[in-house]
Amino acid sequence: MKTNETPIITITIKKLRERFLWNFIEVLFLPVAKEALMGGGLGTRGVRSAAISSAALLFVILLFTFRTKVQLFSANEGLLLSVAARDGSQTRLRPEQKKNAREHKLDEYMKQRKGYCDEQGKWTTLTFDENDESEYKNKKVIAYSEYADSQFDPTLTEERTVVMQTCEIEDKDGESGWIIHRIGPMVGIGGYDRHEITVINLPHPHKAKFFTGKMMAPVYKNGELAGFPPLHSHHVMLGFSGVKHAFESHGDAPCSEDLGGESCYLISYPDGYGLPFINESVPYRDELMVNFIFNDVRRRNENVTPHPMLFYGEVALKWSAKVDEIKPVSMAALHMRGQYHGYVANIVTKRPSLRWSTGTWPVDGKIIISPEDQLPWFHAHRSYFTAFWAFAASPEELGLTTKLLRKVDDNNQTRNGKLDKFDLVWTPDDPIRALEEKVAQSKKGLKSLRCWLVASDEEKVLEYVNETAGFSPELSEPWQQNWKGSWYDRAGEVHCNPWSFEKGDRYTVVGMNGIDDRYNWTHDQSDFFTMMQHNILFLLYETTGPELGPTMEMFGGFNTQGETKIMLKWSYIPSVFKNRTDYFFQSKTGLKKFEGELSQHMKMVLQSDIGLLHDPFWQLQEWFQKYE
Ligand SMILES: *[C@@H]1O[C@H](CO)[C@@H](O)[C@H](O)[C@H]1NC(C)=O
Ligand SMILES: *[C@@H]1O[C@H](CO)[C@@H](O)[C@H](O)[C@H]1NC(C)=O
Ligand SMILES: *[C@@H]1O[C@H](CO)[C@@H](O)[C@H](O)[C@H]1NC(C)=O
Ligand SMILES: *[C@@H]1O[C@H](CO)[C@@H](O)[C@H](O)[C@H]1NC(C)=O
Ligand SMILES: *[C@@H]1O[C@H](CO)[C@@H](O)[C@H](O)[C@H]1NC(C)=O
Repeated sequence: MKTNETPIITITIKKLRERFLWNFIEVLFLPVAKEALMGGGLGTRGVRSAAISSAALLFVILLFTFRTKVQLFSANEGLLLSVAARDGSQTRLRPEQKKNAREHKLDEYMKQRKGYCDEQGKWTTLTFDENDESEYKNKKVIAYSEYADSQFDPTLTEERTVVMQTCEIEDKDGESGWIIHRIGPMVGIGGYDRHEITVINLPHPHKAKFFTGKMMAPVYKNGELAGFPPLHSHHVMLGFSGVKHAFESHGDAPCSEDLGGESCYLISYPDGYGLPFINESVPYRDELMVNFIFNDVRRRNENVTPHPMLFYGEVALKWSAKVDEIKPVSMAALHMRGQYHGYVANIVTKRPSLRWSTGTWPVDGKIIISPEDQLPWFHAHRSYFTAFWAFAASPEELGLTTKLLRKVDDNNQTRNGKLDKFDLVWTPDDPIRALEEKVAQSKKGLKSLRCWLVASDEEKVLEYVNETAGFSPELSEPWQQNWKGSWYDRAGEVHCNPWSFEKGDRYTVVGMNGIDDRYNWTHDQSDFFTMMQHNILFLLYETTGPELGPTMEMFGGFNTQGETKIMLKWSYIPSVFKNRTDYFFQSKTGLKKFEGELSQHMKMVLQSDIGLLHDPFWQLQEWFQKYE
């Protein structure tokens, strides 16, 4: 390692110590001191000063203990320390601050839903009926629902009838609010069963000019959000004009208890930002669709038959029509590239290993960083995920060449198909140290680090939840019963330093996957996921140039020569094409022509080899009609 990297570690230890001490002061020292100074229950002066000196003694002991801890820590968690040194001040919010902000947002949402939708009876019901006479008559809402006894072996599937209830909430000014859809009911039977529903042409809020957030979660019949356990949100993908993950919730959406718990199902943008929604008299328009799978993960076996559990999928979008107050921004989902496996997952090794993806930015811009709003946010199957690091550099500039990559060698039993050309990993003995050394010696160096998440006891990606028994007076609801004691996925915390970029600049996201010894691999999900991993960085970005950058999903390869697959909203029309939209959108031929030209255009903009994944609405409808 270069000598000039050493000071960073020193600084970090200092910073970590400050942070650590602050926690101690706040949690242990202040309450005692406060009690002592205020007199509280301690009557006499003597007792008071005794309390002060014992608090001070405690403080010194803790300080001493902590010094020893730091030394151990720094010996084997090199990158963690370098990473923390770069923690931008805006991400240094204390856990309680994040928890409070997140819970507050959910409380507000719940209050509005209860007061308006429930108490004033503003839910309207939409059945999925071909003869629907509503505004969706010609656009037809299509729902495809399927239940299976088991997520693992969905041979026994059955279609069920569902309805959708919708409630459109307007704030007092009539210019912002929520649209809430509740879809179901579903009846869980435990044992990791599977409930899948798709709604294309999801009704959108009438006045919306922007979307400014989402709340997507399973809810019980009383409207309470369901936790994990008992319900796993395998995925809730709200597609926005062909961009499948414009809004999403996954199994790792809930935060750990002390960082907001289920309130993290709600992610809204900081004030003043929104994704523009096109609902105007132009030939192209935005459309929404949703697809979700929930699993009831309660225990079910020869000895245990859980009570049937009724629940719904709640899919809500926050909207605004305040064109003067909202700055249009864009969403990007930065995926790892895949080949054959469903939903572009990758097979990873059981032992800790690294893989990465790269891509380029289509415009000049900057990433919106707001930790209390969970922006940016990272999705992975947490039982075999430890960390990610995102750099403002290409892999080559970080010393990450494809020579380091090997085929996955300990995990070929997967039910998700054969290993493909993207199932590659870098497996140094000590991945974190190896990455740090590689990057520290590279052209762009550790200073190119922008965002990261590292699992720790404070920022858990897995949380142990105790088991619960069957019915009893305390556990009278089915959703309280028969949980397995296990480690369950939690969001963890993404940290970022300010990140601005120019058109054509590279990013590289490195993920560290593999089974973490700390959890002793008691996790129930291992059988199912068979080490199929996603490592997706979801973010909101502001464009600083004249033309708003696309809302998009990027599937980046391992090097700058590799092809990037990109998924763009079908309503994304770069200005060079605006004068021909009538032609492009009048027929399928026009659309094909548009796709061809857009593809050429994006190749130029992104300065790389790209494959355009365009998913126009008519294709989607045709695809779904096959199922009827
Ligand atoms: C926007 O969409 C709604 C349907 O939700 C429609 O009734 C309304 O006329 C649309 N507005 C414009 C300006 O197209
Ligand atoms: C599958 O894994 C086993 C055990 O690691 C190994 O011996 C075998 O060669 C692998 N097979 C293939 C086709 O990679
Ligand atoms: C979980 O169970 C353990 C062991 O029985 C117990 O010590 C702990 O308090 C329980 N936790 C909760 C949150 O109930
Ligand atoms: C890990 O779990 C196994 C089986 O549950 C147990 O036998 C073993 O002692 C555990 N190991 C550690 C280090 O906790
Ligand atoms: C559309 O505008 C582009 C430049 O923005 C121009 O090159 C092209 O000729 C125009 N096409 C038509 C049909 O007006």
